[in-house]
Amino acid sequence: MESAAETIRRIFGGDANSLGSEMAELSAQYEALNKTKFPKPAETRFIAVANQKGGVGKTTTTVNISAALALGGAKVLVVDMDPQGNASTALGAKHNSGEPSTYDVLEGRKKIAEVKQQCPDFPKLDIVPAAIDLSGAELEVADMQDRNNLLKNALQEFIKTSDEHYDYVIVDCPPSLGLLVINAMCAVTEVLIPIQAEYYALEGLGQLINTIGLVQEHYNPILLVSTMLVTMFDRRTLLSKEIFEKVKEHYPSIVLKTTIPRTVKISEAPSFGKSAIAYDPKGMGAIAYREAALEIARRSKSVLSALSTKKQERK
Ligand SMILES: Nc1ncnc2c1ncn2[C@@H]1O[C@H](COP(=O)(O)OP(=O)(O)OP(=O)(O)O)[C@@H](O)[C@H]1O
Ligand SMILES: [Mg+2]
Repeated sequence: MESAAETIRRIFGGDANSLGSEMAELSAQYEALNKTKFPKPAETRFIAVANQKGGVGKTTTTVNISAALALGGAKVLVVDMDPQGNASTALGAKHNSGEPSTYDVLEGRKKIAEVKQQCPDFPKLDIVPAAIDLSGAELEVADMQDRNNLLKNALQEFIKTSDEHYDYVIVDCPPSLGLLVINAMCAVTEVLIPIQAEYYALEGLGQLINTIGLVQEHYNPILLVSTMLVTMFDRRTLLSKEIFEKVKEHYPSIVLKTTIPRTVKISEAPSFGKSAIAYDPKGMGAIAYREAALEIARRSKSVLSALSTKKQERK
């Protein structure tokens, strides 16, 4: 039987620049992704999505990479560490003030198992939601002993006691650098940095790498910047291409080949309580995030082996 991509190609012709050819390409990618097996990591990968710059696509990346991995068959836990609660909104989790959340987990009132909710669109995706009251935690735990490891301790306990095996734990960080981000970076072994394809992106990136260096030095020596993803890429502009080229030049082994295009559907999806993957599954944004997730999954082996070497060196 003729595939959707072939039908589109037959109707619109094969001109490489035509809209029809773009649609055919997208449709072919969609069909290929549905048939592709996402390899599972040999052990749980703990990834913080971080960048101190605001609005670069941290939450959109957390939500859509997690959804894409879950759709690819992995068991995923998202931890919302941002009092804005945007990841919770986009994954359809209840997170009014007072709803059990990350806030209760950090302050030791509840266990992760008691606060996690299942994402309505993806049965393999769970979320620990956040609400505005989380902003209080920053002050309230300031005097606690081991205050940097509150999330780490809760997560370790959860992973050890959970009946189900989680393949990925993905933590959405707020933009500022405070106790919440330190907790996130102490709880994980990897950082994924989303980089917005715009002029100031690279300036901020140097700062961020320095900050992560400080965290490595003082709190978490194992921490690895494993992944960079260029977001809001506009292929019509030279600037977007230049940013991507620069990032590739400086960080060739960690930047993903896939870039995320700027699309209206990606920005609309959260207002429906949905990821772009669920809201517009055949759209350019969803497909790009699934391609990026596939790259992340395929790199599991090399990332885990780099982490294991780092751990050995510490001994
Ligand atoms: N690829 C994209 N195309 C279009 N809009 C996007 C894209 N990625 C993100 N956005 C929009 O840009 C805004 C910022 O994105 P997002 O909330 O993911 O960034 P953030 O880094 O988490 O922000 P914050 O620092 O406030 O937590 C949002 O309105 C989001 O919907
Ligand atoms: Mg955010």
